[in-house]
Amino acid sequence: MDKITMLIVDDEQYVLSALKRLFHSPKYEVFCAQDPANALELLEKNPHIGVIVCDQKLGENEGTDFFAKTKATHPDISRVLLTGYFNSQIAQNSLLKGEVYRFVTKPWNDDDLMMTVENSWKRYELLNQNRKLLNLIRSQNEHLNHLTLNLKNVIENRIERTVQSQKAIRAKKIQLQITHTLIKRLSRCKNLKEIFKTVLIELKKLIPFDTASIVVQLNPNQYLLLNPKTQVYPFSLKDHSLLQRMFQNPLPTISTEHSSYPSELIFPLMDENRPTPICMATLSLLSHQEHAFSEEDIKRLSDIASPIAIAIEKMKLLEIVEQGSRQWESTFDAISDLATVIDKNFNLIKANRAVEKITHEKVEKVIGKKCYEVLANRKSPCKNCPALESLKTRALTSENEIKDFKDKDYFTWAFPMLDPKKEVNSLVMYYRDHTESSQLFRQLIQSEKMAAIGHLANSLAHELNNPLTGITALSQLLSKELGPHNTWYPDIQEIEKASVRCKNIIENLLNFSEKTKSTKKSSVSLNEIIESTLPLIQYSSTAKQNIRIHKHYAKDLPKIKANTNELQQVFFNLLLNAIQAMPQGGVLEVKTQYLVGKEALQITITDTGVGIPKQNLSKIFDPFYTTKEKTCGTGLGLSVSYGIIKNYEGAIGVQSTLNKGSTFKVTLPLMTTKEKVH
Ligand SMILES: Nc1ncnc2c1ncn2[C@@H]1O[C@H](COP(=O)(O)OP(=O)(O)OP(=O)(O)O)[C@@H](O)[C@H]1O
Ligand SMILES: [Mg+2]
Repeated sequence: MDKITMLIVDDEQYVLSALKRLFHSPKYEVFCAQDPANALELLEKNPHIGVIVCDQKLGENEGTDFFAKTKATHPDISRVLLTGYFNSQIAQNSLLKGEVYRFVTKPWNDDDLMMTVENSWKRYELLNQNRKLLNLIRSQNEHLNHLTLNLKNVIENRIERTVQSQKAIRAKKIQLQITHTLIKRLSRCKNLKEIFKTVLIELKKLIPFDTASIVVQLNPNQYLLLNPKTQVYPFSLKDHSLLQRMFQNPLPTISTEHSSYPSELIFPLMDENRPTPICMATLSLLSHQEHAFSEEDIKRLSDIASPIAIAIEKMKLLEIVEQGSRQWESTFDAISDLATVIDKNFNLIKANRAVEKITHEKVEKVIGKKCYEVLANRKSPCKNCPALESLKTRALTSENEIKDFKDKDYFTWAFPMLDPKKEVNSLVMYYRDHTESSQLFRQLIQSEKMAAIGHLANSLAHELNNPLTGITALSQLLSKELGPHNTWYPDIQEIEKASVRCKNIIENLLNFSEKTKSTKKSSVSLNEIIESTLPLIQYSSTAKQNIRIHKHYAKDLPKIKANTNELQQVFFNLLLNAIQAMPQGGVLEVKTQYLVGKEALQITITDTGVGIPKQNLSKIFDPFYTTKEKTCGTGLGLSVSYGIIKNYEGAIGVQSTLNKGSTFKVTLPLMTTKEKVH
């Protein structure tokens, strides 16, 4: 236990000595003072003094005043007042104010005083401990407060960080959603224009800007600009150094170089998933505001740049493929001959536009149908089709002729396309129409045949003419002389008829050989000649058939220099043939027209009759070729007509469909070469 440290204050030396003696023990440490000033000094020097025992009467000073002072400076010290008399008023005041702890009346009882001092010391110690504890508590409180404050800061920081990270997570989530929608929408885009629109819409959700553009590199020298106004058009980087740099060194850049916008953000679009990403396009965002773009925007763009780049690249490839396919298609369509691609079952996979001329249907409609149905109106592959051979040999064929492809003849080639297993999976078919050349060829043969027959007919007619004249004259004479009642009369009549018929044939032969008749020509009207011929037809035996005649005469048809009889004969033959071809009746159409570019007249005679089988078309102009044996046709009508028209440097052509009818076209030049020279 600590020593009880006390200060005794009394102006009486003997009191001091008595008290010193009383507390002279190792338990006590005693300081003595005779006046308050000395006492205060001791208190100052010995802060561990816990008890003051002071006399109320200190010369001129009062103990209570001294106590009041020490109360202010040393509030915990226990003050014991020694007093000769007890003034209850003073005692109450001092006690209340806490300036005096105990009163001890003089003369004191030593034990009481010692007890009082000990109690006072205990109180002091208690107070002291209390204060220490209080201080401890205070300091601990302070520490606690400090800790609390720290904790509060930590918690606040944590909360702030959580809020921030929640915000970042939310922003990231939004960004992810936008990226997801962007990828989804981009995958549905069909062209660069649509990609650009989609990017604009989705980007607006992420970054504020006023306008934007994308420059796409098609190849190192070819660029396309996509912007909201012009949409898609070829673009040159010549005056755009920033873009040039961007394609060479692709780094996102915030720039103030733009002439109309104070803020620009240029971002390279690269497919980051490639082993070596290259810049395939640049995205420029423009804003009217200064400092509109930040590093944060660059970060946002980094997340969506790759999907945009992938979509653009896909479209670029598509564009290149489409360009190629368009080029192929236009090349394919530019071929005037028929070209098709068929599969091994003869289904049309592709066909060029020339096919439309014979199918009279859009190519798109015939795709998927059998080629032989569409092109040749057949139920099975054409007999000579080179595809049949190619499918077997897997090699390309030499030209094959396919006849009767909707009235036309074609030279045809087949080019097989083999799959990796060397099997034919499709064939390219090429068809060249040679109808015209074969017609020309036929005409050439015809004219040569005609020339030879003409020559023969001429000499034959002259040889036969004289004996026949004799036979006719003699048979007429005989029948006159014998009279109708003679038994020989009918035979003689038969001879006469036969000789007249022979005479007619010879006359026709002479016509055919060009030299017999006078060829006096005058300026004649074709319409008039036809009009004068038609009644002759109507008198013929077939006139009673149910035949309607449609006339389409061209007005103001120029006149032609010709021999009326000759032309009448030609039209008579053609019209008669047409009527004879319609035993059940039908429509006979006669049309005249002026062929502007050719300076020629054309007469078209069409019937709805029996038609001519294809294989017979080459024979009908041959002399004596007839299918009218029963009705005694001579087979000279067309060959004579041919000869006459040939003489005028004209042509006769025929088109016919079996059981549908025939069309004969006679073309006559307004002037022959001879006339032109003169
Ligand atoms: N409009 C037509 N329709 C169908 N067949 C025709 C037609 N014109 C000609 N022919 C065919 O051509 C053949 C030859 O005709 P061409 O006029 O030379 O002789 P023909 O009519 O038989 O006899 P002819 O004219 O001497 O009475 C005919 O027998 C017929 O088979
Ligand atoms: Mg005839």
